Amino acid sequence: MFDKNSPIGVLDSGIGGFSVVRQVQKLLPEEDLIYFGDGAHIPYGNHSEGTIIAMARYMFEYMESQGVKALLVACNTISCVIDRCQDAVSCPTFNAVQAGADAVAGLDVEKVGVISTVFTHNARCYPRRILAQSPRKMVVLSCGCPDLARLVEHNLGNPDGMAEVEDDLRQELDHMVLEDKIQCCVLGCTHYPLVEDSIRKLYPGLLLVDPAEEMARELARCLEERGLKRETGKAGTLNIRTTGSVEEYALRARQVGLERVESVEFYPPMEL
Ligand code: DGL
Repeated sequence: MFDKNSPIGVLDSGIGGFSVVRQVQKLLPEEDLIYFGDGAHIPYGNHSEGTIIAMARYMFEYMESQGVKALLVACNTISCVIDRCQDAVSCPTFNAVQAGADAVAGLDVEKVGVISTVFTHNARCYPRRILAQSPRKMVVLSCGCPDLARLVEHNLGNPDGMAEVEDDLRQELDHMVLEDKIQCCVLGCTHYPLVEDSIRKLYPGLLLVDPAEEMARELARCLEERGLKRETGKAGTLNIRTTGSVEEYALRARQVGLERVESVEFYPPMEL
């Protein structure tokens, strides 16, 4: 069971969910966070649905064993199959796709672009959810990027690698932005907000939607309503678990500006 002093879980296929942790640390600085990144199996976006569900459930079960009071499914790819995972935890869950669609519903735009992994794109969950809850007529264009998440995961902070990221961004986004003239672009994979500065540089003036901001707000509202907000007057901690490289995760956490990292430890991956 959980109470107001229990930690909050954040999970992702890799380091992308650090973009969500960053927002939660800003909005709810007293909360303790546990992060799980499945570095051994990234990229999720190129796996089959059955494999994604099995790998996601493995992380959900870990979070349940830690007694989290809320679980943020930062990974958009997992968010597309969340209805087949969430019975593995007893706490409230929040997912990136719902948060992204909620954020778009509040915008005064007619043509929306979504960039995501290939799985998220093929699942059509963004267009479906955005159209289902939009109060006005909207056109939603979607683009699946097979390599972008992996490139961001391993190249953040490395100038040559970032040039490769920017080439890939141009290849994937030019058409939607320059030809189709989308009015806003949903960053439908947690890795993409980590290179938001590059996207802004390539497409100045394009409105970007980072579902992480909405997810943090929805979490804050829920904790408040349920009396689950931690109010100790002390800053919360962040403990990171990964099935990938501990050194790489520690470095990326610093690069992204995460605060109060108490530990970065290896956790054995699920065998595929
Ligand atoms: N960061 C994940 C997402 O939001 C997926 C990246 C991947 O593992 O393919 O979809």
